[in-house]
Amino acid sequence: MTARKRTAVLVSGRGSNLQALIDAARDPAFPAEIVLVISNVEAAEGLARAAETGIATKFISHKDFASRGDFDAAIDASLRAADVSLVCEAGFMRIHSEWFANLWAGKLLNIHPSLLPSFPGIRVHRQALDAGVKISGCTVHFLVPALDSGPIIAQAAVPVLEGDTPETLAARILVEEHRVYPEALRLAAEGKVTLENGKAVFR
Ligand code: GAR
Repeated sequence: MTARKRTAVLVSGRGSNLQALIDAARDPAFPAEIVLVISNVEAAEGLARAAETGIATKFISHKDFASRGDFDAAIDASLRAADVSLVCEAGFMRIHSEWFANLWAGKLLNIHPSLLPSFPGIRVHRQALDAGVKISGCTVHFLVPALDSGPIIAQAAVPVLEGDTPETLAARILVEEHRVYPEALRLAAEGKVTLENGKAVFR
């Protein structure tokens, strides 16, 4: 077996997607191992989840840096120090500077709780309900220097039901997020999806 890809996960909150990745990577045959979890929020549940599992954690507050670029430089330094080759953003609520996204292009994955390119940004489920869509879902994509956009690696759809609230829709989508993110990481770690000339190429 080739070496498992050393992978970092960036979180800002609950960390349920992080948990799904940790659980998938418990299987020694899974092609990625989670070696570092970074959060910009000290109290993020995701940091506690990682620590419980014995994964190295790092709290880097964006508030300690004068600029977005300086904050990203600190993240970049930690990723390099941990010798990671893949990075998964899982509910990481900071926008990166362009140089950071370019530097890690093809190695940086993000999950978003809508069928992109619909409904980027925040209040995603409220946006979907207000638009009256009948189907929503989640997207894992290569992160590029623009908010919630980039070549798509995997998507899953769920129905939007009569009477849905942002919370009920979010819960239905989250189940799919937990299924799809490990599968997308698997594809990337196995080199079965790569970023080439701005497109996700599958083999
Ligand atoms: C997830 O629904 C994720 O898709 C979303 O934040 C939630 C984090 O939950 N991410 C975004 O909206 C990014 N634009 P989690 O911390 O339990 O994984």
